Amino acid sequence: MPSDPAIPPGQPIVTVLGSVNMDLVIRCQRLPAPGQTVMARSMIEVPGGKGANQAVAAVRSGGNVRMIGRVGDDGFAPKLMQTLIDESVDCRRLLVSANCESGLALVGVEDSGENSIIIVPGANARVTAQDVLESNELIQTSAVLMAQLETPTEAVIAGIRIARQAGVKVMLDPAPASEVLPRELFDVDLICPNETEATTIVGGTLETIDDAVVVAKKLHALGPRAVAITLGARGTLLYNGSTSELIESIPIKCVDTTAAGDAFAGALAVRWAETGDLVQSIRWANVAGALATSSLGAQPSLPTRSQIDTAMGVSPWVTSSDRPEADTTSAGGVSHRKE
Ligand code: RIB
Repeated sequence: MPSDPAIPPGQPIVTVLGSVNMDLVIRCQRLPAPGQTVMARSMIEVPGGKGANQAVAAVRSGGNVRMIGRVGDDGFAPKLMQTLIDESVDCRRLLVSANCESGLALVGVEDSGENSIIIVPGANARVTAQDVLESNELIQTSAVLMAQLETPTEAVIAGIRIARQAGVKVMLDPAPASEVLPRELFDVDLICPNETEATTIVGGTLETIDDAVVVAKKLHALGPRAVAITLGARGTLLYNGSTSELIESIPIKCVDTTAAGDAFAGALAVRWAETGDLVQSIRWANVAGALATSSLGAQPSLPTRSQIDTAMGVSPWVTSSDRPEADTTSAGGVSHRKE
C-alpha cells in the first residue's frame, strides 16, 4: 500500500481481535430465495473477514494496526497473511492453526448491491482466550481495541477485560449478532451494530429514527458507555446515555455493501483515538462506510484517508453548494452498512 500523504505523524495504535476469511464473491442479478437456483455472472477470490477488514480499514484511515487472530495451514493462508503484511498490519499475533482450513465466506452480491454471506469459520473458531492473554502487551499499549463476533466469545471477553483494566478504549462490532450474548461482551466503551444486529440483540423493530433511539437505549442498558447504530444511507444514530443524535452520511451509488460496516469501524477507531470526539469521528467514519459501497469486494473497497478527506470536503455538512452531482438513486438501497 503506498503511503498516504494525508496521514499525520504519531499514528494511534489500534489492535484488532477478529476473523480472517477468504471471500468467494459471487455476482448475480438477484440473490436466490430459499430453494431457488440462480446463474452467477462471475466469481472472484478476495481477502476478507470482519477482523482483517477492520484492520485494513484502520491502517488506510491512518492507524498503526496490530491483528490478533488465526489462519489455517491451507492454500488460502499465505495470501491472507501476506495481504495484511502488505498493508503494514502487524501480524506477530496472527497465528497459524495446523491441520485446519482458514476462514471462508461465500458472499453473494446482487445488482442492487445487497449481499448475503455464509461463513465457514475454520481457524477463526480456534482463537482462544489464552491466545488473547498471550497478546496482552499488544492490547495494553493500544489506544483502541476493536473486536467483532466471528471469533469465539471467550476470546473476545478476554480481550475486553485486558483492555478495560489497562484503560484502553474498546469498540465492539456485534456481528454476526445473536439473541443471547454473554453480559461481559457489553462492558465496552462503544458498541456499533447495524440495524439488523441491534434488533437481533434487544428485539423490537427499527423503521424510524425514533425506533432507533428506543433500540439504542435498550442496548445502552446492557452496559456499553455509548451506542452507535449504523442506519445505511440515513447515517448513524449515536446515543451516549443522555442524548441521542443522528449523524448523516453522504449519498453514493451503491455497488456492493460488503465491508461497509468494517470501513466504518476501522475509520471510527482511528479518528476517535486521534480526536476523542465521537460525533466528529462518526461523521468521518460514515463517509468511509459510504465509500466502501461504491466498489466490489471487501478489502479492495476500503477507502484511504485521502479518499475519505476528499469526500468529506464535498459533503453536505460542509456546504451544500459543494455537493457533487452524485447518483443517489441507489443510496436508499444501502439499508445495511455491515455484512
Ligand atoms: O463484513 C464483511 C465480511 O463479513 C466479509 O469480508 C466476510 O468475510 C464476512 O466476515
